[in-house]
Amino acid sequence: MSTLDRIAELEVEARAAIAAAGDPDALELARLRYLGRKSELPLLLRSIGSLDPAERGQVGAAANQARKTLEALISSREEELAGGELSAALDISLPGAPPLPNGHLHLITETRRDIEDVFLGLGFQIAEGPEIELAEYNFDALNTDITHPSRARSDTFYIDDETVLRVHTSPVQVRAMIAQPPPLYVIAPGRVYRPDNDATHTPQFHQIEGLAVDDGITLADLKGTLLAFARQIFGEQREVLLRPHFFPFTEPSVEVDVSCFNCTAGYLADGSRCPLCKGSGWLEVLGAGMVDPNVFAYVADYGYDPERVTGFAFGMGIERIAMLRHGVPDLRLYFDNDLRFLHQFGAR
Ligand code: DAH
Repeated sequence: MSTLDRIAELEVEARAAIAAAGDPDALELARLRYLGRKSELPLLLRSIGSLDPAERGQVGAAANQARKTLEALISSREEELAGGELSAALDISLPGAPPLPNGHLHLITETRRDIEDVFLGLGFQIAEGPEIELAEYNFDALNTDITHPSRARSDTFYIDDETVLRVHTSPVQVRAMIAQPPPLYVIAPGRVYRPDNDATHTPQFHQIEGLAVDDGITLADLKGTLLAFARQIFGEQREVLLRPHFFPFTEPSVEVDVSCFNCTAGYLADGSRCPLCKGSGWLEVLGAGMVDPNVFAYVADYGYDPERVTGFAFGMGIERIAMLRHGVPDLRLYFDNDLRFLHQFGAR
């Protein structure tokens, strides 16, 4: 039999002996038999030098590998047996050990915290508001006219005529201003609801709102803030692009794009079109703008004189940020609770 075959045979024998050892003494006997100073495998290892040089490398590696494997098996068997002894000696009326921490954050929670960290670092505070919200705060206070399509029964879940499941986190702007005079720098993360359900819309999703109100806030402050956000979330090389848009509560309003982190100006290194930004070089990430004076007028009694203060606001979908960052193809994956999806993300 070749030396290599003998090593393999020894390993098989030793594995069986280790597995069969029913108590620590038996395990120690198995260890002495296969790894003790005078046993065959260690002797073989010590005599490698006397082998034919052509054989040395292979035999040495195999013998070493076998020794390591057996050592690991012995120590894990040792732990198993110790656990068995302990449980035999245990008072079962004692409280159990705390469960092992084998859970982790959901991707949405992890992404929310990452975004919160950016704005906390910039001096924003976190504000919260109810998910069951006054229609007045969800719409009227935000300069959303009674005829606006988002107010339709088909676009908003109504509890009754005055109460809705909030369709965005923007009403927290109103609540934060009522609660505190300027200067005000807040973000408001939370759940929002809309009667939609397909690959890119779920009836419940998450947003983060931002609001900064102070003397002399300008669109440049908004752009600088969003650039800091884009670079921390999507990479240091990012740029931001503001495109004109319309929202009832901001004037002017913009949609904000972040330069694609997956390509250069829309094309991959091999010359093909980038699938993430569809060749445009930009990814749409959020809506924003300068707070409309009509919004300040609604809370003027709380210190928000529309003639004096200015501010910017923005709102983004957390699912969308996470989708872009991690290439998640379907929104519903977030809520299906399939562990094969969930375990790919989340700090443990
Ligand atoms: N509320 C908007 C939405 O749900 C997002 C948004 C746009 C929020 C512009 C803002 C903003 O604060 O200024 O689509």
